[in-house]
Amino acid sequence: MTTAHLLLGQTLTFTADPFHTPISGATRHERRGAVLVEGGKIIATGTADDLRAAHRQAKITDYGDALIMAGLIDAHAHYPQTGIIASWGKRLIDWLNTYTFPEEIRFADPSYAEQTAARYLDLTAANGTTTVASFCTIHPASVDALFQAAAARGQRIVAGKTCMDRNAPDGLLDTAQSAYDDSRALLEKWHGVGRASYAITPRFSPTSTPEQLEALGTLWAEHPDCLMQTHLSEQTDEIEWVKRLFPKARDYLDTYETFGLLREGGLFGHAIHLTEREKSRLREVDAALIHCPTSNTFIGSGLFQMGALMAAGHRIGLATDTGGGSSFSMLRTMAAAYEIGQLTGTSLHPAQLLWLATCGSARALRLDDRIGNLAAWKEADLVVLDLAATPAIAQRSERANDFWEQVFPTIMMGDDRAVVATWINGKPLP
Ligand code: GUN
Ligand code: ZN
Repeated sequence: MTTAHLLLGQTLTFTADPFHTPISGATRHERRGAVLVEGGKIIATGTADDLRAAHRQAKITDYGDALIMAGLIDAHAHYPQTGIIASWGKRLIDWLNTYTFPEEIRFADPSYAEQTAARYLDLTAANGTTTVASFCTIHPASVDALFQAAAARGQRIVAGKTCMDRNAPDGLLDTAQSAYDDSRALLEKWHGVGRASYAITPRFSPTSTPEQLEALGTLWAEHPDCLMQTHLSEQTDEIEWVKRLFPKARDYLDTYETFGLLREGGLFGHAIHLTEREKSRLREVDAALIHCPTSNTFIGSGLFQMGALMAAGHRIGLATDTGGGSSFSMLRTMAAAYEIGQLTGTSLHPAQLLWLATCGSARALRLDDRIGNLAAWKEADLVVLDLAATPAIAQRSERANDFWEQVFPTIMMGDDRAVVATWINGKPLP
């Protein structure tokens, strides 16, 4: 029999989407709250007094004034870029050629992939991230390495083999057929095994021939419950390049749509410079847009239109895009999303930022029935945040008049020092 564990602290639950419901009706905050965890699941949430009285046998961990909430979910990342994060001075295509592709070639060595996968999951967990959706490299062993490392940690994960059969160096090319065959074998090996989900992963249209996109569209049709992750309309130069490579396409999205790569379960990273047709098709099929704010400023891509896209009803997740993104931290990512919101006329409320990094990303990954919220019967992936982790944050948060004012300085200035504990699958990380 497993023992029940009662965690005490401030608690935050979302009862609705705070973009479409007033904040007070969309959130439940307990100043002295409790979460009952057993067998990898959240069994109950409530006040500390009520849950202590009802569960006298439970083991107690008291986190004091720290905030207990759902673990953070990074809906788009590249674990193989861990070693080249924060590389200077390039925009997208040059950045790929100068830093990214040479590093990804190194993943031909399975032991390098294993070492990087473990390091990446350690770094993200130290930042309170409990699920990531990650690209791997073209090498199947790079996919096995990440799924294995996640399984060893009991961690829910989305990943897939990155497919490229043109416009990349020799050591990083597959073919339409091998991309299909390798992706299919990996999908059959990992999808739905334990806490793993497979995402079919064409890197982006410029590095796939029409034949490869078609093969991957066929694979997705054969395995419709998988996800599909890629990039869309990140930089204007990239969009011009796509026009030259696919002269018959109506727009960038059409290069995916034509080959069966546009429907629900699609995850489109960046999605910054969208045409009206692209927006309306993405909305119609309910594909997910993944906002990567630190990446969009770091590589100089542009400003994601969060306010307008949310108002139009798009399904939106939040992500680091490591290592085009400049941080492993979803706190830092929320801060960047806030700043980009300021530049695009939408002051994102702290509740909206926290929702994006949990429920929003879970919805994007179509895992919101299982993760992303502090609620009974969700999986027990949690982060515990010290809301006064540094002197700079503490002196601001102690003046707070309400919970949102207390949490906002940690969103804006916090990092891994704010993470008191990360729980994965009902267990605190050592
Ligand atoms: N577009 C194609 N590949 C990549 C990548 O690795 N990172 C980012 N940010 N954009 C891409
Ligand atoms: Zn990316």
